[in-house]
Amino acid sequence: MDSELAFSAPAERNRQPILTVLRTLLPAQGQALEIASGTGQHVTWFAAHLPQWTWQPSDVSAELFPTIVARIAQAGLGNVQPPRLLDVMQAHWLGDAGAALRFELIYCANMLHIAPWACCAGLMHGAARHLAPDGRLVTYGPYLEDDVATSEGNKKFDASLRAANPAWGIRRREAVQEQAQGAGLRLAARYAMPANNLLLVWSRA
Ligand SMILES: C[S@@+](CC[C@H](N)C(=O)[O-])C[C@H]1O[C@@H](n2cnc3c(N)ncnc32)[C@H](O)[C@@H]1O
Repeated sequence: MDSELAFSAPAERNRQPILTVLRTLLPAQGQALEIASGTGQHVTWFAAHLPQWTWQPSDVSAELFPTIVARIAQAGLGNVQPPRLLDVMQAHWLGDAGAALRFELIYCANMLHIAPWACCAGLMHGAARHLAPDGRLVTYGPYLEDDVATSEGNKKFDASLRAANPAWGIRRREAVQEQAQGAGLRLAARYAMPANNLLLVWSRA
């Protein structure tokens, strides 16, 4: 049963709002790479509802790979590859053979604030290497924005992240944008999402 697997309540809540936006963005079919898959709830949901797409989950840690594999098997999905180790800081993603891989979607939820800041540049440069010409990088999570008042919830969340690890913290959207520009990407769209999250769409500049 799903309940026996490692489970994120926020992922269960936000998977459908995210899918609703993805449906408006994506072509009918393509190849998707998920960065920082965690429990695999997002990739399982998206693969079930976008069956013409193939999905490659990944994470810097293999700890939850058995959970991802079990979740995919329970859902009976044939369009999800086994999870792969991928650290966004690596100069080469997905091993030696990975250099040639291109994806129409690279999706990364809730990593930037729970990883050192350098991971933002790593994500952007890696995405620039592996996006198909018309591909999109989608990032999702909480952000600070210079011209938008920060919610009390995000202020508290940011403080708790920084207390847990000084290298963590909610990132400024404008700073993320600078890193994207440095990698040759631009912010193509911004979606306000439930619970003070943003879904940001990045494309080649
Ligand atoms: C809060 S979880 C998010 C999981 C899932 N994307 C979600 O939204 O529920 C953060 C994930 O980021 C991964 N992560 C942290 N640093 C990373 C890195 N350098 N490269 C790839 N993944 C990383 C962690 O292993 C963890 O699975």
